[in-house]
Amino acid sequence: MASTRSSSWLPTKILSAAPPKAADAIRRELEQISIYPDGAAVELTNAIAKRTGVNADQIIFGAGSDEIILMIARAYLQPGDETVMAVETFPQYKHNVTIENGVSVEVPLADGKHDLPAMLAKVNDKTKIVWVCNPNNPTGTIVSDDELTAFLDQVPDRVLVVLDEAYCEYVEDPSYSDGLALLNRYPNLILLRTFSKIYGLASLRIGYGIGAPGLIRSINQVREPFNTSRFGQAAALASLNDDEFLDRCRTANREGLAFLRAEFDRLGLDYFPRARQLYYG
Ligand SMILES: Cc1ncc(COP(=O)(O)O)c(C=O)c1O
Repeated sequence: MASTRSSSWLPTKILSAAPPKAADAIRRELEQISIYPDGAAVELTNAIAKRTGVNADQIIFGAGSDEIILMIARAYLQPGDETVMAVETFPQYKHNVTIENGVSVEVPLADGKHDLPAMLAKVNDKTKIVWVCNPNNPTGTIVSDDELTAFLDQVPDRVLVVLDEAYCEYVEDPSYSDGLALLNRYPNLILLRTFSKIYGLASLRIGYGIGAPGLIRSINQVREPFNTSRFGQAAALASLNDDEFLDRCRTANREGLAFLRAEFDRLGLDYFPRARQLYYG
């Protein structure tokens, strides 16, 4: 882009996108590279349990939340089973459903947003999973707490709802639901979170799922024994409570969004209206 504003914020804020404590933790782990990682990631599990207020038996780790999606599909789908998802949304849902010979029932977005009533209408006896990406990749839109709970109230208990919150830490819209607060009400709900986005640790492949202990146990049955690395666990543990870093990322994201909005407007490019309201400031 020709504007000088682009060079005023992009380089510094994007290039320092991982917490320094993560690099220190990795350096310490170099002493132990010949030793297997803790397959159950107990220390990290306990730290996340403390931060999120759930029990340790409600958490499972994956090599990124990508692997949690893979494990959910492997654990829950038989050939011919149906899953409902939006289109466009994060492509790994459909990819893993296809690998398991399941059927992806795709429901078009409405103005860039998940059309939850239309998705609900596609749930039938064959449906095993509904995938909800909130905020949605690639549109950046959210469904509100009211919309989500109205939907969850009507999804049959036997259908697993996967709420992918990979980008939840960036959302500043007060109508956004805190998925954690919904877990007690909806035992068929599992949340997906990751250290790849706001924590800036994508190369280390650490993501996690949070849900009812029974759900977590069934997914754990298909988990490879050492699916997350020593480096990933240590870096995630060192970064988890670095709220100053998270605040800096949120600020950079807010500024970047304002910059892009202004440039899109200037260039006459369209973008999803709901995404305009995602961030304040
Ligand atoms: C919505 C969403 N979910 C999950 C993922 C997977 O992230 P990771 O496997 O790095 O945790 C991504 C990555 O782009 C994503 O956009």
